[in-house]
Amino acid sequence: MRGTFYKGGQVSEALVSDRQQSEIPLLGGTANRGKVVRAGNTVRRPLRRTSPATHALLCHLTDIGFDGAPRFIGIDSQQREVLSYIPGTAVTPPYPDWALTDEALVSVAELLRAYHQAARTFDPTPYAWPSSPPEVYKGDLISHNDPNLDNVVFRAGKAVALIDFDLASPGCRLWDIACAARLWAPLRPACYISDVRCGRVLDRFRLFVDSYGLGNADRLRVVDAVAQNHDWCYDNVRNNAAHGHLAFSEYWNAAATERADRICQWYVENGPALQAALV
Ligand SMILES: Nc1ncnc2c1ncn2[C@@H]1O[C@H](COP(=O)(O)OP(=O)(O)O)[C@@H](O)[C@H]1O
Ligand SMILES: [Mg+2]
Repeated sequence: MRGTFYKGGQVSEALVSDRQQSEIPLLGGTANRGKVVRAGNTVRRPLRRTSPATHALLCHLTDIGFDGAPRFIGIDSQQREVLSYIPGTAVTPPYPDWALTDEALVSVAELLRAYHQAARTFDPTPYAWPSSPPEVYKGDLISHNDPNLDNVVFRAGKAVALIDFDLASPGCRLWDIACAARLWAPLRPACYISDVRCGRVLDRFRLFVDSYGLGNADRLRVVDAVAQNHDWCYDNVRNNAAHGHLAFSEYWNAAATERADRICQWYVENGPALQAALV
């Protein structure tokens, strides 16, 4: 197949033989629902306008030896990005018990910290990125911006890789921490938690922040970041739905809207308790 392939620090055109491989659909995501497949040891995904930026980031991670992200391999003859398949399991509903343990939560915090450490030395300036977090959260690195459960691959109960860097853009550690804590603790009213995490969200929030090693100054900002991250993520969903994206349109119904509003209100009412949990 003729495609663009990445090897040893640079991307180049190459003619590479490719045996006909069967493609297995990979489920779990929303943005590219039905369009992500596994072919052998690779994953094929649609390209985006900002793919060159994402690919440069992934190449940087590979070059410095960070193995907690897919490798960018190239672009195939169907104009899809080719990434390395990461053996393991991403966390998709119904959530398995092993994904809801405190050990799993700690491992996500450690993976996120390792990613931030690796991303710190990447220069994002030459590239066009997806829209960034609010200005105040634009810091000194490319944040992942979508550390949802289905974007983390686990092996033996431990988070080993982040996948789906489509939303990665100039941001900061705090933004990713807020997003991950929001989704993994999770930070929402008890009526929206139907598993063993119910009743433990404040403890888990603290555990996540401690496991990441968040400093004192940022501890005072993280609760606000959680609420803003909630709004930012739902704006993204709403925008996609408004532009006719099928999977987001199906998701963004009256119940989802009410849920988003109630969670937002919960942040207002529980701000002091959330802050107190981190002291
Ligand atoms: N590089 C990868 N290695 C292993 N599994 C992957 C990889 N990329 C995607 N997957 C699997 O495919 C699912 C959907 O992929 P993803 O790229 O996150 O789609 P979306 O963009 O729709 O969120 C993931 O939840 C995961 O199960
Ligand atoms: Mg995804």
